[in-house]
Amino acid sequence: MKSVAEKALHNVVDEIDRYLGRLDGPGVADVRAGIMRWGQGSIRPASPQHLSTNKRMSEALALLRADGEVAFALALEAVDPYLRWVAYDYYPRSEIGEAFAGGHAFASLIGERGSIMGADYDLGLFLIEPGVLYRDHRHAAPELYAPLTGPHGWRFAPLEPLSWKPAHQPIWNEAHQHHAIRVGNVPFLCIFGWTSDVNEIATVIRSDDWVELEETVLSST
Ligand SMILES: [Fe+2]
Repeated sequence: MKSVAEKALHNVVDEIDRYLGRLDGPGVADVRAGIMRWGQGSIRPASPQHLSTNKRMSEALALLRADGEVAFALALEAVDPYLRWVAYDYYPRSEIGEAFAGGHAFASLIGERGSIMGADYDLGLFLIEPGVLYRDHRHAAPELYAPLTGPHGWRFAPLEPLSWKPAHQPIWNEAHQHHAIRVGNVPFLCIFGWTSDVNEIATVIRSDDWVELEETVLSST
């Protein structure tokens, strides 16, 4: 018989799959193929949260409920105590900046270090504090972002202007695509899916306008 943690984990993966099934765009099918392959698989023993995300998760889930995603929000709330929230700490802090280094967390649901076992695939949740710039970076893993909150500012080359995109509009980054995210006035809560090359470390791409972007005060978002 499944434990409470197993039920919560498999349920949230089902909800993510249902949610992604309502989105269009490149990469969505690739991420769902991984869910089909690994999603109901063996669970690793539950581990405690390493980073507290409670306040930001609550804010983000309230927004998701307000968007009509009630069952999905409930599933995320139920699974949160069983997730292992950690920081992505491969970037030198001098390059990625203190605001991002101390202002984000991610939790792998399916993957080599995920709550559910999977290989060369990573599906999880990603949370960033409001107002933080996730500076320009790239990685070998092709990546789907499905933001559950918004709007947030995106760009796909250093020095380019930000493009503000609403919640529920997926972003697909091919391997090594440069990208940066300026989080809006609400927490950034996002599904991420890496479909291959998940052990290749991400690197920061320098851009000379980071301070300007980080200091921009948002009024209308
Ligand atoms: Fe990325």
